[in-house]
Amino acid sequence: MLNLNISKPQSTHHQILLPKYKPFILGGNASFAIFPKFISVRKHENIRVGQVRSTIKAVKTLTKKSTTTDVKAVITVQQTVGGVLTHLGLSGGLDFIVDVLGRTLLIELIAAEVDPGKSQTSRKPTIKAYAHRAGKKDNENYYKTNFKIPDDFGEVGAISVENEHHKEMFVKNIVIDGVSGHSTTFTCNSWIHSKFDNKQPRIFFVDKSYLPTETPSGLKSYRKKELEILRGNGTGEHKAFERIYDYVVYNDLGEPDKGDELKRPVLGGAEHPYPRRCRTGRPKTKKDPLSESRSLSVYVPRDEAFSEVKQMTFSAKTLYSVLHSLVPMIQTSVIDSELGFPHFTAIETLFNEGFDLPAQSATGFLGNILPRLVKAIADVENNILRFETPEIIYRDRFCWFRDEEFARQTLAGLNPCNIKLVTEWPLKSKLDPEVYGPAESVITKEIIEQEIGGLMTLEKALEQKKLFILDYHDLLLPYVNKVRELKGTTLYGSRTLFFLMPSGTLRPLAIELTRPPIDGKPQWKDVFQPCWDATGIWLWRLAKAHVLAHDSGLHQLVSHWLRTHCCVEPYIISTNRQLSAMHPIYRLLHPHLRYTMEINALAREALINADGIIEKAFSPGKYCAELCSAAYDQLWQFDLQALPADLINRGMAVEDPTAPHGLKLTIEDYPYANDGLLLWDAIKQWITDYVTYYYPEANLVKSDNELQAWWTEIQTVGHGDKKDEPWWPVLETSDDLIRILTNMVWVTSGHHAAVNFGQYDFAGYFPNRPSIARAIMPTENQNDAEKEQFLNRPEEFLLACFPSQVQATSVMAILDVLSNHSPDEEYLGEKIQPYWEEDKYISAAFKRFNGKLKEIEGIIDARNADGNLKNRSGAGVVPYQLLKPFSEPGVTGKGVPNSISI
Ligand SMILES: [Fe+2]
Repeated sequence: MLNLNISKPQSTHHQILLPKYKPFILGGNASFAIFPKFISVRKHENIRVGQVRSTIKAVKTLTKKSTTTDVKAVITVQQTVGGVLTHLGLSGGLDFIVDVLGRTLLIELIAAEVDPGKSQTSRKPTIKAYAHRAGKKDNENYYKTNFKIPDDFGEVGAISVENEHHKEMFVKNIVIDGVSGHSTTFTCNSWIHSKFDNKQPRIFFVDKSYLPTETPSGLKSYRKKELEILRGNGTGEHKAFERIYDYVVYNDLGEPDKGDELKRPVLGGAEHPYPRRCRTGRPKTKKDPLSESRSLSVYVPRDEAFSEVKQMTFSAKTLYSVLHSLVPMIQTSVIDSELGFPHFTAIETLFNEGFDLPAQSATGFLGNILPRLVKAIADVENNILRFETPEIIYRDRFCWFRDEEFARQTLAGLNPCNIKLVTEWPLKSKLDPEVYGPAESVITKEIIEQEIGGLMTLEKALEQKKLFILDYHDLLLPYVNKVRELKGTTLYGSRTLFFLMPSGTLRPLAIELTRPPIDGKPQWKDVFQPCWDATGIWLWRLAKAHVLAHDSGLHQLVSHWLRTHCCVEPYIISTNRQLSAMHPIYRLLHPHLRYTMEINALAREALINADGIIEKAFSPGKYCAELCSAAYDQLWQFDLQALPADLINRGMAVEDPTAPHGLKLTIEDYPYANDGLLLWDAIKQWITDYVTYYYPEANLVKSDNELQAWWTEIQTVGHGDKKDEPWWPVLETSDDLIRILTNMVWVTSGHHAAVNFGQYDFAGYFPNRPSIARAIMPTENQNDAEKEQFLNRPEEFLLACFPSQVQATSVMAILDVLSNHSPDEEYLGEKIQPYWEEDKYISAAFKRFNGKLKEIEGIIDARNADGNLKNRSGAGVVPYQLLKPFSEPGVTGKGVPNSISI
C-alpha cells in the first residue's frame, strides 16, 4: 500500500522530478499534511492573493470585515488513449503521487470585472486552489476543489488551469458552483499541457460570448494574450503539445532527398497558386531548400488532434490503418502492380470470395480495426480482404453500363457540381492554338441535331436551355503531354454533351476527346456517340471510361480535396489566430472547423504526397497536385462556393424571387441542387438568427476589430495568392457576415457530405467510376494488329483501360473508410453546443434549426419516393440521400456532419 502521508519523498531522483509546491491559501484542499497550519483561512476576512510567476504567494490583508462564499469547482477530464499511458513509466508513477496528494490541477479563478473606479490594468486578485481527483464514471475522471470567494469578487470570467502531471490531459469542462448563487460553466474540450512542458497555464473563458468591445474589463488582457499565444512567433519547429496556428505553403508533398523522381513543386505562390496549410516548422530538405522535410507524425495544433479523444473506431484511426497497413499489404500481394483484371467476373470476386492478404500477424490487428474490409477466415492462415457490395451494384448490377445512369449521376451522383448549361455555340477552347492545336470543337451542329433532330434544332435547344456539358477540355489539355510521359497512364481533354429530355432526365449526346500536338504529330481529336452499331458502341463505352476517369480525378482533387479540405484550412487557422475563444463567431464556427486539420495532415502524409495513393491511382499521376493548383488558379472563387451562386454561375439556376429559395432551376429535378438548397436555407436562417442577435446594430460588424482582422487574414494570407481578386465579399454589415458564414458552413457540411459520403456507393464498383484510364482510344494510333485485337475482343480493351488490380483495390479500401460515419459523428444541427445552452435566444434558434433539419429528412424521403422525380427514383436507382442530415454509423450514403472530419 502506498503511504498517503508523503511529505518528504525518499528518493533523490523523485525529489528532482516532483513539483516543488509552495503553500498558498484559500484552496479547499489545504488539509494535506504538506501545508503548514498557519495558512488556514479565517472566515470574514478580506483576503488578497498576489502572484509572482508560478510562485503563489499569499498576502493576507486585514481590512474591513466582509464575507466570503463557499464555491465548488468540478473539472471533468476525459480518459484518452494518452491518458491510459500516463500511468506507465516513471512520470506516470509521479503523476499518481500528485493525484494522491490532491494536487493534480491548479485552478485559478479570474474575476470578470476589475474593481469599480480602478484602472483596467488593476485586476482583482485571483483565487487559487488545487483540485484533487474525486471519482470516475465511464471514461471520465472528476476532479474537485473548493474556494472561498469574497463577496465583492463578482462573476468569474475566466479560469487558469495548470496541469501538475507530467502528461497532458483532456479537460472537457469546468463547472463552478455557487458564485452569485448560480453555476458557471467553462466548456474546454481541450488538451492541457503538462507544466513541465510549458509553464504557461491555460486560460479558459466563461461560456458567455462577448464581442471584443464588450469584453468584461477583467478579461481584456487575457483575451489579447491568448490570441498572441495562438499566433506564435513564426519560428522554430512546433512541438506536439503546442497550440500555435500559423501559415505556410504546401512544400511538404515531395521527398527530394529520396530521389529526383520524388521532388514536387511548391504549391502556393505566383507559379502555383494554392491555399496555405498549417505551419509545422520542420527543417528544409537537403536537396531542395524550398521543400520541408517530412516526418511520420505531422504537427497540428494540439486541440486539432482528435483521434485519441474520439472513439477508437474513429475515421482518422481507420484511415491511418488503411493507408499505412492495408494498402502496403495489397501492394505486396499482387506481384505485377500493373496487372489489370482479366475479365469482369474477376471484379465480382472482390465482393464475394475476396482477396488474400499476406499472412502477417498485423492482419489480425487490422481485422479488429477494419472489420468491414478485413475478414478472418477460420482455420486459414491468411486473412481475406473482402469488400461489401456497393449500393449501386446491389440495386442494379448493370446500371454502370447504361447511358441514362451515366447522365443521371452528373445530377445525383458523387460529383454533381460540375455539370453546366451550354450558353455559347460553337464550343471553342480558350487555350493557345499555337501550342494546343485548333481551338474549335469537332462536335458540330449536325452531330447534335443527328441526336436530337426529332425533338428540336440546335438553336432551339440552346434557346430553351436543353444542352448541358461536362467540360474538362481546357483544364486537362495542358497536362496531356506531360502525363503521357508517365508509365501506365494517359490523358485527354474532354467534353461531354447532354440533352435534357422531356422526361426531365439527361441523355448523353457526344463525347469529344482531344490530344494536343505531340512528337511532331498534329492535334488529334475525335467525337464518339451512342450509336447502333457494334464497333461504334464499344468506342462510345471506351470514351465514357475516359470521361469517368477525368470526372473521378477532378472530383477527388477539386470538388472534394480542394474545395472543402484544402480551402477550409485557412479559415480554421485565421479563426483561431484572430477570433478569441469568447467571440460569438468563433463559437459559431468552431463545430464546423473541428477535426479537419488532422485529416488534412494525414492526407498530406499519405494520400496526396509524392508517390502517394492519389498519384498512383489517378490519371494525372505525379501531376495531380499541380493540376489541383491549376484548378484553384482558374476556377476557385470564394463567392462561388455558396450553393446558389454556384448554381447560377453554372447556368443551372436563375434568380427568381417568386420561386422557392429565390431560384428557378434549369433542370427541375436536380437532386443535389434541390436538397442542397433546403439545407442552405436552413443554415442561412440559423446563422441569420445568431448573427443578428450578437450584432443588433449596423456598425458593430465594421467596428469589430477581431472580426475584421479575421476576414482580412483569410483573404490576404490564407488565400493570399488570390488576395487581389475583385470577387471577395466586403465585410461591413451583418448581412455581409451572414453571407460569408453561410458560405463557409455550407462548404464544411452540405458540400463536403455531398461529395464525400457516397464515395463507396458510387465508386466502390470501379467500372462505374474508374479512377484512371490507362490506355488510349483504339482509334488514336491504330495499327492493324491493335485493330484486329479490338474487333475480336473489345472487352479486353475496356479492362486494360480500367485501373490495375492494385490501383482498384487500394482505392476501394480507402473509399470505404472515407464513406464511413463514426459512431460519434457530429451531425449538422443535431446537438446544441454547451456554450449556447444557457442563452435562451440562441438555444431557441438552435431548436428551430434542428426542427428544420428533421423536416428536411422527411422532405427528402418524400422526394425519393416520388416516381415522377426520375433522377432520384426508379427501378434499381440509388435514391439521393447524400444531403439527408442525419445517419446511423457506418457506410450509409447519407448524413451531413458539421465539419470535414474524414
Ligand atoms: Fe473528405
